[in-house]
Amino acid sequence: MNIDFLLEGEPEEELLAGFLKSSRSLVFEEYADIEQIEGRPAVYSHASVQRKSVSLGQMRAPLNAFESLSAVRRSAKNFSEKSISIGDLASCVLSSCGITATPNPIKEYFLLANPSAGNLVGTSIWVASRSVEGLDSGIYFFDRGNSSLNFIDTEFQSVYNTLIQPELRSAAAIVCIVGSFDRSIGKYGLRGARYIFLESGHIAQNLCMSATSRGLAACSIGGFIEDNLNESLQLDGILHSAIYCVALGSNIENE
Ligand SMILES: Cc1cc2nc3c(=O)[nH]c(=O)nc-3n(C[C@H](O)[C@H](O)[C@H](O)COP(=O)(O)O)c2cc1C
Repeated sequence: MNIDFLLEGEPEEELLAGFLKSSRSLVFEEYADIEQIEGRPAVYSHASVQRKSVSLGQMRAPLNAFESLSAVRRSAKNFSEKSISIGDLASCVLSSCGITATPNPIKEYFLLANPSAGNLVGTSIWVASRSVEGLDSGIYFFDRGNSSLNFIDTEFQSVYNTLIQPELRSAAAIVCIVGSFDRSIGKYGLRGARYIFLESGHIAQNLCMSATSRGLAACSIGGFIEDNLNESLQLDGILHSAIYCVALGSNIENE
């Protein structure tokens, strides 16, 4: 694909490439001296301008369905080998980023479970299935328009191997959120690149909440080797790049 029309004459091409292609060594070497804060969240308090505070207290009982889920959502850190059903996987994917309304089918105008800047839909979803009942192991592309998982490759293990934490590699499925930057940058400039990250976060959170609602374990994962995951999914790593993953499965601690 010719990207000159997006980046012509600008240093942005290099900037974008550097922005997207952070590697494992960058993450671990540049930030190696950051002091680890164990046991408590780093909650930011703006003490210098704090004049009057209004307590929000706790979520009000009785909790509604969303609030109940929000209260128990956790990132699973140890997955068992247990499989999940294709029904559970389908529900998680569809309720996170599937088409929820088609106001104008002729113009192929549709609305999704996730918000998307300008409705440009700068994300695509790939699934690496290791142990999903009713679905052969492999790598699949989620075709939103047809609501189908399209088989790409048998090499699901190549996706799992990009995860830095081995304990996440027994998850039943890894959902990979991929950003496609061309249209968003074409409309919004480099800010459009940031919108893709925001859109990815929406989808990841939806996946986590949907998994929680189905009693599945989920973990949002930024700790993967980007270059390797892009290679597994046959992405150029610049205009199309893996952004975020969510592991789905069963928590070893619940067995
Ligand atoms: C952008 C992002 C990347 C993350 N990457 C990882 C990861 O690679 N591995 C992991 O175990 N958890 C990862 N997490 C999950 C956090 O560790 C987790 O949200 C945090 O410890 C708080 O725990 P909780 O989600 O159970 O409330 C990530 C979370 C975010 C928002």
